[in-house]
This record gives sequence, C-alpha cells and structure tokens, in this order.
Amino acid sequence: MYGAMPQSASGAVHVSNYEDALYVLRSPEFRPLRKEAGFNMAYQLMFTGGALIDLHGKEHFERRRILGSLFRRATLEEYESDYLAPAVREAIADLDASSTDPVDLLVFTWRIMIRLMVRLVGVDGLDTPEAEERFAEYFRDFEHGTRSRFSRDPEETVAKALVSRSILYEEFLEASWARRRAILADANAARPRDVLTLLLEHEDYYRDKVGDRAAEVMNNETAAFMAASIGSTANAICGAVYEIDRWLQDHPEDRPKLLDSEFLRTCFSESIRLHQTGPLMRQAAEDVRLPSGTEVPAQAVALIDRLEAGIELASRASQPGSGQHFDPYRTIDGVPQYVLAFGQGPHMCIGRQMVLGGHYTQPEIEETDTRVGLAVTVLSEYFRAGVRLVPDRAPIISGHTIRETWAEFPVYFAGPSA
Ligand code: HEM
Repeated sequence: MYGAMPQSASGAVHVSNYEDALYVLRSPEFRPLRKEAGFNMAYQLMFTGGALIDLHGKEHFERRRILGSLFRRATLEEYESDYLAPAVREAIADLDASSTDPVDLLVFTWRIMIRLMVRLVGVDGLDTPEAEERFAEYFRDFEHGTRSRFSRDPEETVAKALVSRSILYEEFLEASWARRRAILADANAARPRDVLTLLLEHEDYYRDKVGDRAAEVMNNETAAFMAASIGSTANAICGAVYEIDRWLQDHPEDRPKLLDSEFLRTCFSESIRLHQTGPLMRQAAEDVRLPSGTEVPAQAVALIDRLEAGIELASRASQPGSGQHFDPYRTIDGVPQYVLAFGQGPHMCIGRQMVLGGHYTQPEIEETDTRVGLAVTVLSEYFRAGVRLVPDRAPIISGHTIRETWAEFPVYFAGPSA
C-alpha cells in the first residue's frame, strides 16, 4: 500500500492482516528497530536515539509514565479551550481577506500546531512573527531528518536536518532549558506544565539511565515529541478536510452536520483510517509465528501496513472492497473507526487523548469530559470559516518520502458555510 521502502538489512516481513498487526504491536518479542536493522535507522537514531519511541520494555514503561503525566485532563482542557480554539480563530482572522489566492492548508495547520506544541513543550522566544518564521523554517528541515527512515534521499535530508537542529538548539532550546532550571531552583516560582520542566524534574532519572548522555537524550526526547505531533496532526487534519469536502459533494444533506462535533469526530476517525502516513516497524527478538501462521525469523523487521489492515478490517465488517471508501456512518464492531492510525500496544500514540478528546479514549468519563479534542476543535473552526477545496487545484501528495503526506493542500476560506 505504501511506496517502495529503503533497504532492510535482514529482509522484511509485510504484515497487513489486522490480527497479525495487533500481535506484533502488542507483544514483547517485537522491539523498535536498532541501528543495524537497515531502513536508514542509523540516520534516524541520530535524532530519536534514547527517546521514548526508541525504548522497549521496563525502560519504555517508566519513561512513558513520566511523559504521560503531561496529559492530565486539566492540562488538556486548558490547552483546548483557553488556547487552541482562539489560536485557530486568530490565524483565520489574520488571513488577507482581500486576497483571492488559495491558502495552503497544510502549511497553515502546521503553523498552528507549531504554536500549540512549543507551548506544550516549553520552547520560549517565539514571540515575534520573525522568530516564529525562523523557528518554523529550521523545524521543517529538522522534522524531515527525524523521518529519514522513510526518505528517498536520506544523506542530504540528514545533513540539512543536523544543521537545522544545531540552530534550533542554540537559538531556542538552550535559553528555554536555562530559564526552567532557574525556575526549578527558586522554591517560590510557579512551575510551568511543559515537557522541558517535566524532563528537568526527572533529570536524575535520565542521568541514572544514560549517564553523560542525559542532556543529549533529553534534547532528543523534546525534539522527537515535537516531530511526532506537529506533522502527523497537520497531515491528518488535511486528510479529514479532503474526505469531508468530497463527501459533501455527494451528500449535501449532511452539510448542516458540520456544526455537530460528533459528526466531525467520526469523519476525522474515518479519514485517518484512510490517510495513514507510513508503515510502523518492529524487529523480532526471536523467531515468532503470527496468528495467521506467518513466520517472522529472529532479527527480521515486520513492516506493519496499518492502512491495508484498516481497509481489510472495515471491508470485513461490511462488504468486500468497501473498506477503501470514506463512510462516516461506518461501524466496526469492537474496534475504533480509526483502527490502527494511532498504533497499538505500549507505543500507542501518547497524544491520542489530546487529538480525540474524551469520547473515544475514556468512555467511562465521557459525561463529565467536555473536551472535543484537538482535531474537532480545529475542524469546527475551519468549517465555520467555510473551508473548501479549490475546484481545479487538487491537493498534491509528497514525492520525497514513501510516507503518504500532503505536499500542497490549496483551499479557500469562504466565510461561514453553515
Ligand atoms: C492525528 C494525529 C496523530 C497521529 C495519527 C499519531 C500517530 C501515532 C502513531 C501511529 C504512533 C505509534 C508509533 C509506533 O508505534 O511506532 C504515535 C506515537 C507517538 N505520538 Fe502520535 N500521532 C498523532 C498526534 C500526536 C500528538 C498531538 C502528540 C503529542 C502531543 C503525539 C505524540 C506521540 C509520541 C510522543 C509518540 C511515541 C509514543 C511511544 O513511543 O510510547 N502524537 N503517534
């Protein structure tokens, strides 16, 4: 389902069956890839080495507990209602109303996500449009480096990303770390709730685990966190706008539902089932037999095609072949509509609750949890402002990477639509 992959060192097993995919993602015999596994991992680990995504077993569990404390409900609520919705409205209001040119929704959403994530991470110094512009420019190259295992030209991508990373660290992160160190040293100062503060509060833990590499790993943790959140969310929001726009062309009677959070959430879940950015990868620590009978030899890499698995599962739940179509009214018994879009098992996306709100993630507290989630918040504001695809300029998929990401996503904002 995805483009041709970079080379693997030990041969790869393609996993596209839902039950096999679940097995691989949940079982301790399968681990994040090591440097020697091929797939440009030696490059990728320059950026993510020692960070959460790269860990396994007990160490991963401990680290996940530390970072997970950032996603308490009160924090999420504050980000969603006090910050995100106004930030999206402001960004739309700032668009040049006199211009008839389309807006690139990918760049637009990516910038909104950068603003949100630098707050959550605790990067200071982006107070002026110029500083934000500089940060965004370097972050874009850096982000490509963190995904170099999917890159078609990894050397060039990585060389650029390393330069950008140094600039980002020197210009933005060093001062942000220093400011938080000073806050922590002052017993009377209020502590920000952000990634940098959290990591500094656990600095002894990092020292204990990785010794002299603590500063490097804490930087990698921070950077991997931003890379995991910004691009994937911007890409997913564009995917949802794309599918909803097309759905409304055939189902104009659903247009009033754009004001309904539940409809938007279902549309978002259905669209991320269909717009997943690339295979997940794990390496077998020993010979393993998957539920379908497929044998995975020790050291082989399992390439988990969650797009194909999601399509196949949705087709199984209704009619053969139907799973490749967008249908917000689809139900898949016992499985969320997004299927494997957030992964599964111990590495399942830590930002899922932030993206989806309370409903899908914690049904037991749904009644008291008023969050609609980042995705619905952004989509609601976009549709309220009349976002629509440009009739003769279809969005373009990127050719630089085998991940399915948008390269360009032209839209119009055309005033309130409903
Ligand atoms: C629609 C948006 C998003 C999608 C589709 C998505 C998808 C994923 C997937 C598939 C994984 C698992 C990777 C693997 O198993 O190898 C993952 C992990 C992760 N995601 Fe997300 N993500 C999204 C948004 C976010 C946000 C907003 C954040 C942070 C606020 C975030 C932070 C992370 C982190 C830190 C991990 C690593 C977790 C671990 O290894 O334990 N993601 N994401």
